[in-house]
Amino acid sequence: MKIAVLTGGGDCPGLNAAIRAVVRRALSQGDRIIGILEGWKGLLDNKVKPLTAEMTSGILPLGGTILGTARVNPLKVRGGIKKCLANFRRNKLDALITVGGEGTLRIAAAFAEEGMPIVCVPKTIDNDAWGTDYTIGFDTAVQVATEAIDRLHTTAESHNRVMIVEVMGRHAGWIATYAGIAGGADAILVPEETFDIRDLCRIIEKRAKRKRRFSIFVVSEDARIRLDGKKILRTPLRHDEYGDVKLGGIGEFLARELRRRTDSEVRVTVLGHVQRGGTPTAFDRILATRLGVFAVDLVKARKFGMMAVLQGNKIRAISIAESAGKLKPVDPEIAETARVFFG
Ligand code: F6P
Repeated sequence: MKIAVLTGGGDCPGLNAAIRAVVRRALSQGDRIIGILEGWKGLLDNKVKPLTAEMTSGILPLGGTILGTARVNPLKVRGGIKKCLANFRRNKLDALITVGGEGTLRIAAAFAEEGMPIVCVPKTIDNDAWGTDYTIGFDTAVQVATEAIDRLHTTAESHNRVMIVEVMGRHAGWIATYAGIAGGADAILVPEETFDIRDLCRIIEKRAKRKRRFSIFVVSEDARIRLDGKKILRTPLRHDEYGDVKLGGIGEFLARELRRRTDSEVRVTVLGHVQRGGTPTAFDRILATRLGVFAVDLVKARKFGMMAVLQGNKIRAISIAESAGKLKPVDPEIAETARVFFG
């Protein structure tokens, strides 16, 4: 068979581990494999290159993606679907494996409907892909955010400051919740639940009474904060050049409100793309390897229109159509556990 692989959407640690797994599994079974460069843009522009075992040697611990990626959505490009289907045929491909997040899944679902033999592997630091317990990149992002929170703790305590840590995650609060629990946050603000600003002020007061004159608040980039039971404070929605929503800035808004309402010194740290860079954790490398190998096995079994997922500790297949367009919110049980430590 001739199989192509692409990485789509925002990058994350673990993509190269997935590429390596796909390439090695395919080659070991006598198949040919090509890489599509810069995500869906490469399929639109026919930018491809053959992949060999040597090219994937040493990439397991590397962050980013050797194939490159872009946020281009071929469904939004005039004639994009036709162009991609034509390039798929031009390269005489038998199957396409996509390693991507929610956006890539939606695109893959559309191409699967057009009859393209396609298999997906879920990645995103946001961990919001429906149907899988974990996505590639999430564990590393949590590790980075946790280390940052640990460091902020010591300086917060020295200066008696309120530290706001703004993390990524788009419309789901997974990174905030996991890093918040691991880093011992005094409150975690997520998109799934609206937090009242007065509760944050109460936490600061309560802690001060216990002679803890510092606090660490972890805030997800799309968190909603209720101002005195009325208005909801949320980052104003902006869009990037591809029409995707661009979040960020909620930490500063929150800091302004807290300064107004308390006598605390407040500082904000926005972790940003640091969460997406660098070497993947062992967990992400293993997950990417398992999902990548399984994706090739799905192709070989001609089980197209499927996504390889982690459920419990088993790799399974679910249909792309089942997952596309749905977001996986933070598990309420985990959110409940996090709340035990607020204040
Ligand atoms: O989906 C991954 C993610 O890092 C989100 O957490 C964040 O909102 C977005 O991508 C940032 O996108 P960009 O890399 O285009 O700035």
